[in-house]
Amino acid sequence: MKSIHSFATLAAFASGALAANFSLVQDYSGTGFFDAWDFYGNFDNLTNGDVTYVNQTNATNLAYVDPAGHVIIKVDNTSFVPYNDKRNSVRITTKDYFTPGTIWVVDAAHLPFGCSVWPSIWTKGNNWPQNGEIDIIEGVNLMTFNQMALHTQPGCLAANGTTETGQSGGGDCSVAAGCTVVEKTPNSYGEAFASVGGGVWATQFDVTGIFIWFWQRPDVPASITTATDSIDISTWGNPSAAWPASSCNIPQFFGAQQLVIDITLCGDWAGVPSIYSATCGDAATNACYLDNVINNGTAQYANAYFDLNYIRAFAVNSSVIVNADGGAVTSGAGAPSSTGAAGPGASSGASTGGSGSSSGATILSPAAWLAALAGAVGTLGMLAL
Ligand SMILES: *[C@@H]1O[C@H](CO)[C@@H](O)[C@H](O)[C@H]1NC(C)=O
Ligand SMILES: *[C@@H]1O[C@H](CO)[C@@H](O)[C@H](O)[C@H]1NC(C)=O
Ligand SMILES: *[C@@H]1O[C@H](CO)[C@@H](O)[C@H](O)[C@H]1NC(C)=O
Ligand SMILES: *[C@@H]1O[C@H](CO)[C@@H](O)[C@H](O)[C@H]1NC(C)=O
Ligand SMILES: *[C@@H]1O[C@H](CO)[C@@H](O)[C@H](O)[C@H]1NC(C)=O
Ligand SMILES: *[C@@H]1O[C@H](CO)[C@@H](O)[C@H](O)[C@H]1NC(C)=O
Ligand SMILES: *[C@@H]1O[C@H](CO)[C@@H](O)[C@H](O)[C@H]1NC(C)=O
Ligand SMILES: *[C@@H]1O[C@H](CO)[C@@H](O)[C@H](O)[C@H]1NC(C)=O
Repeated sequence: MKSIHSFATLAAFASGALAANFSLVQDYSGTGFFDAWDFYGNFDNLTNGDVTYVNQTNATNLAYVDPAGHVIIKVDNTSFVPYNDKRNSVRITTKDYFTPGTIWVVDAAHLPFGCSVWPSIWTKGNNWPQNGEIDIIEGVNLMTFNQMALHTQPGCLAANGTTETGQSGGGDCSVAAGCTVVEKTPNSYGEAFASVGGGVWATQFDVTGIFIWFWQRPDVPASITTATDSIDISTWGNPSAAWPASSCNIPQFFGAQQLVIDITLCGDWAGVPSIYSATCGDAATNACYLDNVINNGTAQYANAYFDLNYIRAFAVNSSVIVNADGGAVTSGAGAPSSTGAAGPGASSGASTGGSGSSSGATILSPAAWLAALAGAVGTLGMLAL
């Protein structure tokens, strides 16, 4: 395998660093985690999911930091939901926006999964979709691998012949599905991800391109587990997904990005009958809603939760943290918040099995999945403001 050393060093040079070494500029972890995020507080009017995203007041049981310092974000699996009603869930966005030059590291012990479940950790500009979207973690139903994507205005393409370990699903980032790359490294989503204790994603948002790396827990490198004040990306090897600037002018298509974490149910991707039935079996109209969302939801949503150790942002300096309009942050913001607690390596190893109603489920390979995607209709996988 060819070393990516020269590539990483180049990328760092271009973004202003003198080495492949970036400093911590924001640490989302521990008891103060949710102070740095805004809650949506409205029903899902963005992807037509069958959820109400609660406000912070009503989120105490769905968005909290557990005694071990893990960040839990989940779908309500205790309330009885009558027919025609929606189920409570969570959508949060960072108050911070980040410019090119940023590396986000997401350490998760568990991702939400199960029939009807559609979680994502992603980024977007203030003006969506004009200012771009980076989907770092996204999956639906009983998919067994993560799907990454960019969404942009016309003119941003995935390069051909890119050195990436994932499988590219299309070159035009302006189509409804975006320019997708499906993960081929094992255990990137679902029950398998949880059973190995999760893993880590690192996303480089840079003028030289956008690059996403993924390591399942056993493979997380020391450069990640030992990174506290700074992170050295020079030994990371080939990314899972790469969109180099050679075919996408990053500052042109991506404004400053804020992070988004959400879990919706059914809706424009998970709920499309052909998509839903691909892994959950029931092809009946509205099966996604009727088989899962209503009634007590207990079995269906036992795995519909994020368990995050931390999300950290690294950069040459904290000038990457800006206001929603991309302007400089004044009065002390932009300095790293040390919200403390959960450090790297803390892993619950959560693995609870039982992923919902899965009769007749078929596990699609990445290639078969891409074929199914290409044939499906709707605004597949496209998230929204
Ligand atoms: C932060 O880094 C940028 C890019 O190298 C540089 O232009 C800027 O002067 C630096 N700011 C501070 C406060 O060091
Ligand atoms: C990165 O920065 C840390 C802390 O300043 C330093 O110890 C380390 O040697 C640097 N690594 C590289 C590759 O420059
Ligand atoms: C969604 O609802 C919120 C709150 O009512 C509103 O501000 C926003 O404009 C709506 N978005 C869309 C896309 O309808
Ligand atoms: C939060 O949501 C609940 C339930 O919809 C509502 O009763 C309450 O007024 C909201 N609180 C705020 C501060 O918006
Ligand atoms: C939302 O919060 C308000 C205020 O705490 C409370 O009265 C109400 O019962 C909550 N509603 C739900 C649906 O959780
Ligand atoms: C990649 O190759 C396809 C097929 O030849 C071509 O249509 C597309 O324009 C190429 N993309 C880029 C970014 O060069
Ligand atoms: C509710 O959940 C329990 C398991 O806790 C299950 O036995 C029961 O059948 C469920 N009821 C409905 C109406 O789905
Ligand atoms: C509800 O979901 C949580 C995870 O968020 C899980 O630990 C719990 O077992 C579930 N409840 C039931 C009754 O299945």
